Amino acid sequence: MTDPSTALPPRPAYSDEEEGTWQLLYGRQVPRLQRMACQPFLDGLGKAGFEAERIPSLQVLSDNLAGRTGWRLVRVEGLVAERPFFELVASKRFPATDFIRKRADLDYTPAPDLFHDQFGHVPMLTLPTFARFFQRFGEAGQGASDAAVTALARIYWFTVEFGLIREGGARKAFGAGLMSSIGELDHGFSPDVRVHDFDLDAIAARPFVTTEIQADYFEVPSFDVLERDFERWARARGLLPAA
Ligand SMILES: [Fe+2]
Repeated sequence: MTDPSTALPPRPAYSDEEEGTWQLLYGRQVPRLQRMACQPFLDGLGKAGFEAERIPSLQVLSDNLAGRTGWRLVRVEGLVAERPFFELVASKRFPATDFIRKRADLDYTPAPDLFHDQFGHVPMLTLPTFARFFQRFGEAGQGASDAAVTALARIYWFTVEFGLIREGGARKAFGAGLMSSIGELDHGFSPDVRVHDFDLDAIAARPFVTTEIQADYFEVPSFDVLERDFERWARARGLLPAA
């Protein structure tokens, strides 16, 4: 039985067209991801309870996530401002929309929809190392100066949204912006992009543009290194308490 304190609004009654949009997006993206996504993302799709044929229920995803890493989902109408976002993430809650893009916006949606928020983000939250890094990220943002918030937003962009990882000697993707967009995914693996070694100081100093396709990416050697380096970086700046 669902704990009332963690209950989410009921799953919306999606139309046949909306269910069809999900099936198209899922059916196009998953075969690509079998080659391009890191293994924890692919495993996470099953662990979280995603299905090819049906738009997920936030409650089901949230309950599955809670059983794996203690994270939960909260339903939001759209983008959450930085400071409330840090508060949510620090308490292991991820904000997600539950509307799906229009069929005409299959390849690009200006506002994140459930294919981005749920399909793109939730699988990685089933991985304990990544989930710990993400919670630490939220903790670091609490009480951060404006300059530190800017640095954290860049770290978020180049890891959680557009991060690449070395896995078994090959380059794979883990960022939700890549997972939820065919155009971004193909572009991220094209020869047109620059892939830099993972370096949080370099990331913190690199502005990003949300309205253009990415030119620069960073590749983490492993999720353990992402977690460890982020904790060190944040401690050195007083954003996390000393070990
Ligand atoms: Fe996102």
